[in-house]
Amino acid sequence: MNIFVVGASGLVGSHCTKVFQNNSWLTLGTHLNYPTSETVYFDPLIDNLKDFFSVHNFAPDAIVHCAALTNVDFCENNVETSHKATVLSTAKIVEFCKEAEIPLTYISTDYVFDGKQGPYSEDASVNPLNVYGAHKLEAERLVSSLKRNLILRITNVYGEELRSKNFIARLMEDLVQQPEKMLNLPYDQFATPIYAGDIANMVFLLLRDQKNGLYHLGSSDYYSRYHLAVKISSYFEKNKSVKFNPVQTINANQAAVRPLNGGLLNNKFLNEYPNFSLTNVDSYILKSLKNEL
Ligand SMILES: NC(=O)c1ccc[n+]([C@@H]2O[C@H](COP(=O)([O-])OP(=O)(O)OC[C@H]3O[C@@H](n4cnc5c(N)ncnc54)[C@H](OP(=O)(O)O)[C@@H]3O)[C@@H](O)[C@H]2O)c1
Repeated sequence: MNIFVVGASGLVGSHCTKVFQNNSWLTLGTHLNYPTSETVYFDPLIDNLKDFFSVHNFAPDAIVHCAALTNVDFCENNVETSHKATVLSTAKIVEFCKEAEIPLTYISTDYVFDGKQGPYSEDASVNPLNVYGAHKLEAERLVSSLKRNLILRITNVYGEELRSKNFIARLMEDLVQQPEKMLNLPYDQFATPIYAGDIANMVFLLLRDQKNGLYHLGSSDYYSRYHLAVKISSYFEKNKSVKFNPVQTINANQAAVRPLNGGLLNNKFLNEYPNFSLTNVDSYILKSLKNEL
């Protein structure tokens, strides 16, 4: 299989690329502002996909679209930029997939929900509270117009990445380096954090088996940021300098409204793949402390 990975310089895209390559699939991955040794520049809004593939001599059998503007507060304050990056760029990719008759996998979010009754299954009603969630939902709807599509909702992703920008990776770096720091962390925003390596393996299985439609990729963990930080720091007994201040979301001064009881139920995926073994936060920390990842 030849897989085009849009957003391969990011957390999810880089893990997908690795898993696909480990399974002998050929990949072409992209970056926008952060070049890596594994990626080529691609802007869906500017580049014509047919020309792009002929320049790179690559004929994709499927596209995995992991690119998005993921700073939720930035999206809230920059509605047009968010719409271009998430909705219009996805429309261009959808258009290409329609013409080329190839399947598109789109990575989405639990922010399509309002957080009143999470964690959510695939049949729950959507009601995004912020611009990012609304634009991801709009992009989902474009993707679902394709005959062959996968829409995979995820949330609170963690894992190894070149930039260590995800919450757990950054916190673990701090807990090792011990800068004097006070982190204000919401204690009332809950989600199901998931390991990027698990997402990549799930995407691989779903693509390999030519599955179609909507899947929620959640884990069995259910944490708020504050509880997650306390859990992680418990593995760093000598930590004295990184401190956590539990804050209520309403007092957190975030530009975008957050769903409080978010998260995703993975029953559909696990019914189809009962032997899939999910990582949890504890096993991830233990493995990374032993350098086993
Ligand atoms: N991380 C999470 O907790 C989380 C939760 C829910 C859903 N998601 C979804 O999962 C997907 C992957 O997220 P991630 O955590 O891997 O994000 P990430 O690490 O920030 O990576 C985003 C990727 O998209 C690229 N990109 C950003 N804007 C782009 C644009 N306008 N055109 C083309 N490429 C663009 C980035 O390129 P450069 O970095 O090179 O500029 C990067 O490769 C996204 O769709 C996101 O909405 C993530």
